[in-house]
Amino acid sequence: MKPGKLTLLELAELKSRGEKIVMVTAYDAPGARLAEQAGIDILLVGDSAGMVVLGHEGTVPVTMEEMLFLTRSVSRTVERPLVVGDMPFGSYHVSDEDAVRNAIRFVKEAGADVVKLEGAGPSLSRARAIVSAGIGVMGHVGLTPQSETMLGGYKTQGRTAAKARQLLADALALEAAGCFAIVLEAVPVPVAARITESLTVPTIGIGAGPACDGQVLVYHDLLGLTEGRAPRFVKRYAKLADEIRRALTTYAGEVRDGAYPDEEHTYGMSEDELELFSQAFSSEPARPDGGAGGGVSAERVEQRHRES
Ligand code: KIV
Repeated sequence: MKPGKLTLLELAELKSRGEKIVMVTAYDAPGARLAEQAGIDILLVGDSAGMVVLGHEGTVPVTMEEMLFLTRSVSRTVERPLVVGDMPFGSYHVSDEDAVRNAIRFVKEAGADVVKLEGAGPSLSRARAIVSAGIGVMGHVGLTPQSETMLGGYKTQGRTAAKARQLLADALALEAAGCFAIVLEAVPVPVAARITESLTVPTIGIGAGPACDGQVLVYHDLLGLTEGRAPRFVKRYAKLADEIRRALTTYAGEVRDGAYPDEEHTYGMSEDELELFSQAFSSEPARPDGGAGGGVSAERVEQRHRES
């Protein structure tokens, strides 16, 4: 573990003291660096990368290799934030053994501190098995995007009394299975509040209201890198897509009209060297085989380089 790393004990203490936990997704070194500088507690290398980084419609196509690649770039960049590797669809669905093997890959090959998996039901024994192997597990209930088809799309969960009771039971079961924290996604405020007060481990909400012990948002959503309609819970704290498009459009225009590169963005050379360089090529044209044209002058150029 890196020195200064936020520990699971410290995380639990934040809940006991009523201090909010801040989590954001991260998928690369620059994003991870900025998030650490902003004092973010937890970086989730989410399989939301499928949509916001890899250009898929959902999270299901994301592979272990892709998640390991992204997780490595985040974990090698930061010291303090806890790095959570999000186990992609298929990496823990077949058996406990598979789940443990893949969780170990996140830690050994990608430097993740802990892993996250979705759902209760069969995920309970997966969580138990991974925790028994010595790896921390973050649970995730409510809207679980890997089961989008089974849930009938990206919809709020737990809106009937029976479904809300089931959510509470699932969260309690994940805690009993050893999860150190649980993400509640797209859950009505009173349900998330009841789950939060019933659990001893922290809840991290996304579309689950203010009673949760912490909040998580997708990096690209909160920075306005994604555009168009967003889920109700997304708050855009910046409009980076506008800013980036403006910069790229200006760059393209300046390249096309010759305004870039100007003198400020180019390198020169001394008059002496320029003179020697010009002499070297003045008597004979450069040979197509790459040999120096202008014989003696070319040797002088090389000699000057050796001397300098
Ligand atoms: O993959 C992800 O980004 C997530 C968060 C939305 C919790 O699972």
